[in-house]
Amino acid sequence: MYDYKNNVRPEDMERITTIELANKFIDEQVEAIRAQVGDKKVLLALSGGVDSSVVAALLIKAIGKQLVCVHVNHGLMRKDESEAVIRVFGEAMDANLIYIDATDRYLDLLAGVAEPERKRKIIGEEFIKIFGEEADKLEDIAFLGQGTIYPDILESKDSVKAHHNVGGLPAWMTMELVEPVKLLFKDEVRVVGEALGLPHSMVYRQPFPGPGLGVRCLGAITRDRLHALREADAILREEFDNNGLNHVWQYFVAVPDFKSVGVRDGKRYEGWPAIIRAVNTVDAMTATIEEVPYAVLHRVTERITHEVEGINRVCLDLTPKPIGTIEWE
Ligand code: XMP
Repeated sequence: MYDYKNNVRPEDMERITTIELANKFIDEQVEAIRAQVGDKKVLLALSGGVDSSVVAALLIKAIGKQLVCVHVNHGLMRKDESEAVIRVFGEAMDANLIYIDATDRYLDLLAGVAEPERKRKIIGEEFIKIFGEEADKLEDIAFLGQGTIYPDILESKDSVKAHHNVGGLPAWMTMELVEPVKLLFKDEVRVVGEALGLPHSMVYRQPFPGPGLGVRCLGAITRDRLHALREADAILREEFDNNGLNHVWQYFVAVPDFKSVGVRDGKRYEGWPAIIRAVNTVDAMTATIEEVPYAVLHRVTERITHEVEGINRVCLDLTPKPIGTIEWE
């Protein structure tokens, strides 16, 4: 058993590359979690991302209903993501899951807010507030579960990226942390997720920013444009899956807040453009463009312009990082 307290991955720690090694890790962690937690309760913010999902599954295995998962749907999730969290954790794993649909609360707060950093701030602060409100309602919670992984620790040491998971807790939340995957790299977390029986789509989910579709529905978010973005993004993901492109690091749709003129059913049809972005990267600091086959782009364009209300054009973003960031906002 490695010493998890000092946050340094020992050099001789074996890389978890197989299900057997993952099972060994899981057995060790189940024991360690039980020893740390005893008969107390653990609270976990479950976003549905790989890291928090793997931590949830590990904790469920170790302490069952002593884990309380809170999933806040900020209304900015991709299509079917919150539903998948309910299916997998609430139903299949029978977890203690509190589901909060905060869509209206978020969209009301974000109405008319166009500035990206302000949007991020509102989304982040509201999450802390809602999560805090839920924590206050619960009794006897002694621990806070977190999906910190080793790159988070390394990055926070280098202070490369302040906006991610480390240090995101408000001071009033002084609970002791349970961070069972904090010495693991992402690929190892995925193998552990597979060994725990999580669905492939969850384990291999591409990175998704905390503010979600909020930073892809460009400018001031409106419900109709957000809906169009979610549908267009779902089509892009489906076509990437169907055409063997889901190895691409990140691919998504962004929808700007202006319209162009088009024609539908013989009539003038003003609609938003859907902008496709598909990039590869190692560390998200630089990124290159995936050369998506034209046949796939044609199919995506055909489907989005026919199936999504409000979209009448599809554009492709060919900008590497730098000069463009991965997200548009
Ligand atoms: P950029 O746009 O900075 O994105 O090139 C690099 C990576 O970070 C993700 N990203 C975020 N993740 N909160 C997050 O949790 C954020 O506010 C945020 N902004 C960007 C982005 O999706 C990409 O993977």
